[in-house]
Amino acid sequence: MIVSTQQLFKHAYGKYAIGAYNINNLEQTMGLFQGCIDSKAPFIIQLSKGARQYTNKKMLEAMTRAADEIFPDAVFAVHLDHGDEETCMDCIKSGFYSSVMIDASAESFEQNIAITKRVVDAAHARGISVEAELGKLGGVEEHVSVSEADAKLTDPLQAEEFVKKSGCDSLACAIGTSHGAFKFTGSQGLHFDVLENIQKRLPGFPLVMHGSSSVPQDEVERINAAGGQLGGAKGVNADEFKRAAQLGVTKINIDTDGRLVWCRVHREAFKTDPKNFDLRPPGKVFMKEYAKFIAAKNEKLGSAGQLEAVRKLVSK
Ligand code: G3H
Ligand code: 13P
Ligand code: ZN
Repeated sequence: MIVSTQQLFKHAYGKYAIGAYNINNLEQTMGLFQGCIDSKAPFIIQLSKGARQYTNKKMLEAMTRAADEIFPDAVFAVHLDHGDEETCMDCIKSGFYSSVMIDASAESFEQNIAITKRVVDAAHARGISVEAELGKLGGVEEHVSVSEADAKLTDPLQAEEFVKKSGCDSLACAIGTSHGAFKFTGSQGLHFDVLENIQKRLPGFPLVMHGSSSVPQDEVERINAAGGQLGGAKGVNADEFKRAAQLGVTKINIDTDGRLVWCRVHREAFKTDPKNFDLRPPGKVFMKEYAKFIAAKNEKLGSAGQLEAVRKLVSK
């Protein structure tokens, strides 16, 4: 059942975070739904601009609708991840999305407000909610990367003004994470002090944490043992998710860790069976492993076991 993102946030706020997972293909889609059913968790399925271009945006919509039929017990919202203004408007018009993210964080503060407000006006007219971003993440991925030197944590004072002026429904804050598999060097970690200050100024307002993959070291070791070269990969400690949730983080974005599962499964499959050329055997393993990975993440987020309570709330 596709529900509104705000309904999910209302239930989760201050208690747990909803996992927001990116999908690109059918194997990820099947594994995501299975993992959320297995762990009895509501979730957000995220479609990025890059994913919409990878095959065709219609393919992503069709896969999501099909999964909704295959897993009738699933409760989830559909979200555009890291949209520009044009993509946001396209998603708003499509009528398929529960929420969109306008990422104008690379613009000036004033421009970010102006762009976000235009998207908010269009989205709210159709009952769709909007996530905006303030601050800069130090990133390494294409499309969303900003140089490490330019990385800037969200200013709590600015956050309050930004939310008031733009009318956005949730805010992605820069609290020390970055996208991709190489987030931290040395003993860097999450800036809970920044989160605490933002929550004080915006009590009850849903915050979003991007770049939340953990980059498990055992996963990296298995990938490297099967021919990968991921030296220095490091991520967020998943045991910190619940503390972040108590400070107002209601949506936690995870993509890279899923890509690592894909990479490990396929590298190991072709290493152990070099004569195989069939896509289905590793695909089958991946769907199972992906479901296991999603269920384990939902435990860390605290969303596991919340499905029935959320269903009751949305069915009222
Ligand atoms: O934060 C970005 C997500 O990981 C999506 O990545 O733009 O390569 O689809 P993508
Ligand atoms: P990761 O690269 O840490 O998985 O972050 C994903 C993300 O923020 C998607 O918007
Ligand atoms: Zn992101």
